[in-house]
Amino acid sequence: MKTIHVATGAPYDVIVGRGLLDKAGELLRDVLRPGDAMAARPCRAALIADSHVMPLYGKRVTASLQKAGFGCESYVFAAGEASKNLDTYTDILRFLAAEHFSRSDVIVALGGGVTGDMAGFAAATFLRGIPFLQIPTSLLAMTDSSVGGKTAVDLPEGKNLVGAFHQPCLVVCDPDVLETLPEAVFRDGSAEVIKYGMLGNEAFFRQLEEAPIRDQAENVIETCVTMKRDIVEADEFDTGERRKLNLGHSFGHAIEKCSNFGISHGLAVAAGMAIITRAAVQKGFCEPSALPRLLSLLKRCGLPTGTDFSAARLAAAALSDKKFSGGRIHLIVPEAIGRCRILPVPSAELADWLKAGGVL
Ligand SMILES: NC(=O)c1ccc[n+]([C@@H]2O[C@H](COP(=O)([O-])OP(=O)(O)OC[C@H]3O[C@@H](n4cnc5c(N)ncnc54)[C@H](O)[C@@H]3O)[C@@H](O)[C@H]2O)c1
Ligand SMILES: [Zn+2]
Repeated sequence: MKTIHVATGAPYDVIVGRGLLDKAGELLRDVLRPGDAMAARPCRAALIADSHVMPLYGKRVTASLQKAGFGCESYVFAAGEASKNLDTYTDILRFLAAEHFSRSDVIVALGGGVTGDMAGFAAATFLRGIPFLQIPTSLLAMTDSSVGGKTAVDLPEGKNLVGAFHQPCLVVCDPDVLETLPEAVFRDGSAEVIKYGMLGNEAFFRQLEEAPIRDQAENVIETCVTMKRDIVEADEFDTGERRKLNLGHSFGHAIEKCSNFGISHGLAVAAGMAIITRAAVQKGFCEPSALPRLLSLLKRCGLPTGTDFSAARLAAAALSDKKFSGGRIHLIVPEAIGRCRILPVPSAELADWLKAGGVL
């Protein structure tokens, strides 16, 4: 078991270890009521999970919460990004109100990034904010979305347009639950894991080249969480360094949009990373040997290294992205494996970057 402390405005721990799902209640109790196993005031937990994860792990987490003295009510929503909207969010708030949850209670988000984002946003706003525990169950949620306090839901106009910064009181990662994660979802998360190696840690990138992520999941999660922690601590509200986490995302988002979200986020980010790295090498920003290493790691993980959409279409889609402002787009440009820089690029040059990245 490994504990990674995150010293944001509201500090918290991320605990990583096999079998921790059954200890979640105990760990939460220690955070909410340190040294007070027999607290007089009962505290209740609202367990929120999607329709895939609740049947798999809901009972174990409920049992663990109850054993630690929490009353427990559950809320289930239909699995998938399509549920991450204002309707489900409102439904969750109404469930919390109908069950008379108070600010001394706690929300438990059990699931992937969709559950974490939506339950987290409910926790940020219900009664102006109540504590929440993240129990991430997808590779992406364990290595990325459960840390950093960003919560959000989607609007028909775009993803993550409504949200808040709200740090969890604790994150509990049990790598054993990845066993039931569908291969395609695992692959999506792998793209973000490779992103961490690429943007800031050459030694970690080498570890990924040496063995499959599944065979070193615990170590991979610890490393990614530690890296995200360092970035988030330096830039809690996403105004500077944290932008580096967008490596591969400007072009990735454009690919997702052009495919009408038929291409999943992870696959799009993988292609986005390959394109920006190819362009960076072409334009002399990046050490050439980085490119074949990235491409072969992506391929080994079953991830794409390019796209069939045209540079003109992708540039138009990228420029309609919310991160574009003032005639410039901030591209995250690799300089070597494990190092990248934030480069403001005039919007008129975007198509040229895409072409340099091998896009037709
Ligand atoms: N808040 C942030 O900082 C941040 C960062 C990155 C991504 N995100 C968000 O995360 C979301 C994507 O996350 P995701 O890929 O985890 O999606 P997800 O939550 O929809 O999970 C993907 C699928 O895997 C299933 N699943 C999850 N864990 C499982 C398990 N252990 N066993 C079996 N099935 C399991 C889910 O039911 C779902 O069908 C997006 O909405 C994205 O915007 C947020
Ligand atoms: Zn991403």
